[in-house]
Amino acid sequence: MMIDPNMLSDPIERAADILSQAKSVVALTGAGISVESGIPPFRGKGGLWEKMDPMEVAHIDAFIENPERVWNLLIKEMKTVLDRARPNPAHTGLVDLERLGKLATVITQNVDGLHQAAGSSDVIEFHGNFAWQRCTECGQLHPTAEVDIARIPPQCDCGGILRPDCVFFGEMIPTEAMVRSQQISSGCDVMLVIGTSAMVQPAASMPFIARENGARIIEINPEPTPLTGRISNLPLMGDAGRIMPQLVEAVKERLDSP
Ligand code: OAD
Repeated sequence: MMIDPNMLSDPIERAADILSQAKSVVALTGAGISVESGIPPFRGKGGLWEKMDPMEVAHIDAFIENPERVWNLLIKEMKTVLDRARPNPAHTGLVDLERLGKLATVITQNVDGLHQAAGSSDVIEFHGNFAWQRCTECGQLHPTAEVDIARIPPQCDCGGILRPDCVFFGEMIPTEAMVRSQQISSGCDVMLVIGTSAMVQPAASMPFIARENGARIIEINPEPTPLTGRISNLPLMGDAGRIMPQLVEAVKERLDSP
């Protein structure tokens, strides 16, 4: 039996080969990239949706029906966790790749703002950003850090109830985020998919769009996903905070050597 010599080499080295030759790289990230920043994921080990039903706490109808309940069960806790969270080596690894000219845009499903905090310059927030709360009456935005949660649900000066400026289940993806993500996914030659279970549409369709248009897909995740072995050309199985710095070093070595 013939053995492909590529199959024998270290997957991180192979991923670095692909990245160092790439012309247009995009990253698609999910909750897993922020796990090592202390933010629990939604699915998989320790996932939030094992403890609560997303349709009862993260669907727009649940919020409209009982905002107080959704604030108490989900949003208050998110505020506490996200206030404390800081970027980890996976976020900073993406910034390093950008500085090396090997990453242009991050499409993230996360609302934690950690890619921007790390220094990524072009971040598409597919599901919005938790840094702001929006008045459901007048639309005014309030910085989440300044919202007083002594009284739940918090209110705007106009008396309207505040909600996170994020996408709830049952709501549309912001048009610009959707259109740009589709364009960038179809035009990239490598997509780095990090820490997403690839279960939630339409974000999960981006690797399919990229692959259909000829891109190679590198996936970083400690567990297999529906992409693994089908859509990803190269799964790197492990925690993003451990793998990203190794990947960055391997790319640097290739770019440094003449
Ligand atoms: P999920 O929670 O569904 O998936 C997280 C993935 O990260 C899983 O596949 C884990 O195996 C993986 N993971 C865990 N620890 C990791 C680590 N240290 N390094 C890398 N990967 C790790 O998160 P998303 O795919 O982002 O939607 O979820 C998509 C959407 O579902 C979210 O944006 C949210 C949620 O309901 C909305 O809020 C609208």
